[in-house]
Amino acid sequence: MSGGVYGGDEVGALVFDIGSYTVRAGYAGEDCPKADFPTALGVALAEREADGAAGPTDGDAATRKERAAAAARTYSIDTNALHVPREGVEICSPLKNGMIEDWDSFQAILDHTYRRHIKSETPLHPVLMSEAPWNARGKREKLTEIMFEHYNIPAFFLCKTAVLSAFANGRSTGLVLDSGATHTTAIPVHDGYVLQQGIVKSPLAGDFITMQCRELFQETAIEITPPYQIAAKEPVREGAPPNWRKKEKLPTVSKSWHTYMCNEVIQDFQATVLQVSDSPYDEQSAAQMPTVHYEFTNGYNCDFGAERLKIPEGLFDPSNVKGLSGNTMLGVSHVVTTSVGMCDIDIRPGLYGSVIVSGGNTLLQGFTDRLNRDLSQKTPPSMRLKLIASPSTVERRFSSWVGGSILASLGTFQQMWISKQEYEEGGKQCVERKCP
Ligand SMILES: Nc1ncnc2c1ncn2[C@@H]1O[C@H](COP(=O)(O)OP(=O)(O)OP(=O)(O)O)[C@@H](O)[C@H]1O
Ligand SMILES: [Mg+2]
Repeated sequence: MSGGVYGGDEVGALVFDIGSYTVRAGYAGEDCPKADFPTALGVALAEREADGAAGPTDGDAATRKERAAAAARTYSIDTNALHVPREGVEICSPLKNGMIEDWDSFQAILDHTYRRHIKSETPLHPVLMSEAPWNARGKREKLTEIMFEHYNIPAFFLCKTAVLSAFANGRSTGLVLDSGATHTTAIPVHDGYVLQQGIVKSPLAGDFITMQCRELFQETAIEITPPYQIAAKEPVREGAPPNWRKKEKLPTVSKSWHTYMCNEVIQDFQATVLQVSDSPYDEQSAAQMPTVHYEFTNGYNCDFGAERLKIPEGLFDPSNVKGLSGNTMLGVSHVVTTSVGMCDIDIRPGLYGSVIVSGGNTLLQGFTDRLNRDLSQKTPPSMRLKLIASPSTVERRFSSWVGGSILASLGTFQQMWISKQEYEEGGKQCVERKCP
């Protein structure tokens, strides 16, 4: 075998970074992804009998059945299609715990991305894909197989999200703190490799904040109205009940779809109103917090004060969060210090010296200031602490995509690809050797 040198006269490599919240995809070498759309899909079961819809009947019975079930599903993918209210459409995700779980809907997302965003043929482009740092061996191999066998791509590379985020920030060593939708993680990266023993995860992230907001609205009887229901609305004065008219003839939508639409409304509130307190939350200083006026989709509007700080406080101090069992969950700064503590003492200075902040949830106002404050108090005095957080929201949200874009266009990287020839000679297992 002659290594992975791939002699590309192809058009350009593609970078896919598929998170639990959105899919980021585009061309290597560009500043930001061409596509950024929800990872959630609408799925409807077609009415025909699942068996018999399978097409060619090769493979064993189980696969045949799986395919038959898949063939009978129809998907609504991407912002526009997902937002159309339809009877019987449920929300599903191809990912579970950041890893691909449902391969059929995963492929539906890839198909859609090639067709609608990339608008090109799969055999023309090498593909660099991000993966969760804890991705399982079987899933990595299955993905490699699908990319070469089904999509017939010329070259492939899999890289951990944290490594890509570090590259995007010009580092090959550092502690990557990633707070996205489903989890907040600290991932130590050393010379471009993840130190698996130091990975620390907490479920306190964006989805948790959405849930906390939802509870606040329930307690304060603020009604969340997803835009799909609204036919018309009138302006109302502050704090007055909303005055809006419901669309007639709405289909009976599923609970999961309706909840997803409500969550989108809440996520806007989350990004607009909330702020992380710069020191541990206390009622008195929170009461002096400048208020923010917010108008909901249905026209209801009011000022938010102390709640702005109280909700995100749970990220940093989970001890007072209602509904969380005891103190078992780690706050953001604890996630960082625990992770560093699990790494070899010699490399700790390099980790504290580059704490790389990434993920959409870190865009909460005040997030990095608070992190800096809490960490300075926890970092041993002999160590220099440095937070690296891009001021650009695009770079923070897309850091793993951007890292992939940089990596895949480096001249020195071109020998790293798994070429099609290498795959054909070595089989799907070659991903373990080429992309450790
Ligand atoms: N400007 C913002 N302010 C506050 N929160 C934001 C902002 N933008 C996005 N978010 C939140 O960030 C989360 C999404 O982050 P991100 O795009 O990093 O997730 P992901 O990588 O798709 O998912 P995961 O890492 O969980 O697999 C959502 O919870 C969203 O509500
Ligand atoms: Mg992510």
